[in-house]
Amino acid sequence: MKVLVVGGGGREHALVWKIAQSPKVTKVLAAPGNAGIAEEPKAQCVDISATDIEALRDFALQEKIDLTVVGPEEPLVKGIVDVFQDAGLTIFGPTKAAALLEGSKAFAKQFMKEMGIPTAEFEVFDDPEKAKDYIRSKGAPIVVKADGLAAGKGSIVCKTLDEALTAVDRIMVEKAFGDAGNKVVVEEFLKGEEASFIVITDGENIVPLASSQDHKPVFDNDEGPNTGGMGAYSPAPVVTEEVFNRAMNEIVIPTIKGMKEKGIPFKGVLYVGLMIIEDKYPKVLEFNVRFGDPEAQPILMRMKTDLVDALMASIEGGLDKCNIEYSDEAAVCVVMASGGYPGKYEKGKVIYGLEEVAKMEKVKVFHAGTKKVNGNFVTNGGRVLGVTALGENIKKAIDRAYEAVSKIHWDKVHYRKDIGAKALRRLGLL
Ligand code: AMP
Ligand code: GLY
Repeated sequence: MKVLVVGGGGREHALVWKIAQSPKVTKVLAAPGNAGIAEEPKAQCVDISATDIEALRDFALQEKIDLTVVGPEEPLVKGIVDVFQDAGLTIFGPTKAAALLEGSKAFAKQFMKEMGIPTAEFEVFDDPEKAKDYIRSKGAPIVVKADGLAAGKGSIVCKTLDEALTAVDRIMVEKAFGDAGNKVVVEEFLKGEEASFIVITDGENIVPLASSQDHKPVFDNDEGPNTGGMGAYSPAPVVTEEVFNRAMNEIVIPTIKGMKEKGIPFKGVLYVGLMIIEDKYPKVLEFNVRFGDPEAQPILMRMKTDLVDALMASIEGGLDKCNIEYSDEAAVCVVMASGGYPGKYEKGKVIYGLEEVAKMEKVKVFHAGTKKVNGNFVTNGGRVLGVTALGENIKKAIDRAYEAVSKIHWDKVHYRKDIGAKALRRLGLL
C-alpha cells in the first residue's frame, strides 16, 4: 500500500513512523512533512501544503495512493474527505458536515444540548452587546470562545468580568481570529482535571484509544498562555474505570449515535477534550475530529497493533472486529519549543544532540517544526521536537524522556519541566 499523510507536525511524524511499520505499507508520502519525517524508512516528503486540497487530490490520483490520513483539522473542516471521495480515493476521516463538531463550537454545543451530553452551560451570540449583557448577568469566572477554528487560541478563560468583556471585543469586534469570531459561545467555567479521550469510529462501532493527558499552558504549573500542547503522557490515571465508562456511555456513544441519527455519520478520530469534575464526572470541553498533537505521540508509541487495520476498518466498516493492543509501559512526550512560542520566536537555530539521543533505547524524537540546512537540523517552528519515551511506569518514562531532553539543545530552547507531574501526584509518587 502507498499511504499519504497530510500535515507536517509532531503528530504527523508519529503517524508516518507508525504507519511505515505496517507490513502492508510499501511507501509513506507526507505533505508537506518535515525534516524528521524525511529520515523515516519508507517515507518521503512532498512540497504540498496541508490545506491545498485540490493539489493533494491531484497528487493522490497521480501517485495512485491507496490510503490518505489527515493530521490537522483545517483540511478536514474544509472538506478534504468529500473531495477525495468524489475522486474515488480512499481517505480516513470525517466529511465536511461531520467535521463541524470541531469546525463550529456553536454547532457542537447545540448538538450536545440536543443529545443531553454533559458539557458546560452556554449561550451562543452573534451580537457582541448581547454577549456582554449575558456575561454581566452571569459574572466571572466565565469562558468566551470563538465559534470557528482559531489554531487552539480561540478559547479565552476569563477570571474577571473585565477580561470577559474584552475577550468579546477581541473576538467579535477586532476579529482577532477573522470570521471564526462571527459568533461566540459564552460558557460556564468548569473546575476539574482535563484528559484527552480519543476514539476511532466507523460511524457505528467505536474503538477507544489509550487515555492521555495534554499540557496546554506554556509554563510549568499550567501558567502562561495556552499553546497547541507542551507535552503529553499515556495512560492518564485521572481516567479511572468509572470515568472511562461514563465518558463512553454518556458522551462518546450518544455522540456517534446522534450524528448518525442526524444523517451526518461520523467516521474517523473523535477526540473529546474532557474536564473531569470531582474525579468522577466527565464533561465535554471540546470535540476535535483528528488525533491530538502531542497526544498521538505517546499513544502511538505504546500501540502494538497495526494502525492501518484500524484506519481501514473505520473507512470500510467492521471496526467491531478490530482490537487495538498497547504495551503495558507508560509513554511520555516532552515538547521542546522555540523560546517565545506561542508568541513571536526565532527560527533557523541549529539543533544539537540528536545523534546522542538516537542511541538511547525506548526513546523516539518526533520532529515538528524542523528543516535540514547544510546537513544540520534547524528549528523551523514554535513546537520543534516531541521527545517521547517509554518506561515500565510513568515515573521511569518521565525520567527517560527528560534524560533525552537534557542531551538536546539549541539557542533559546524552551520546554516544561513538569510533564507528567499530575500523574505522579495522583499516584502518590510526588
Ligand atoms: P477548548 O479550545 O474549548 O478546548 O479550550 C481550550 C482550553 O481552555 C481547555 O483545554 C481548557 O483548559 C480551557 N477551557 C475551555 N473551556 C473551559 C471551561 N468551560 N471551563 C474551564 N476551562 C475551560
Ligand atoms: N493537544 C491538543 C490538540 O491536539 O488539540
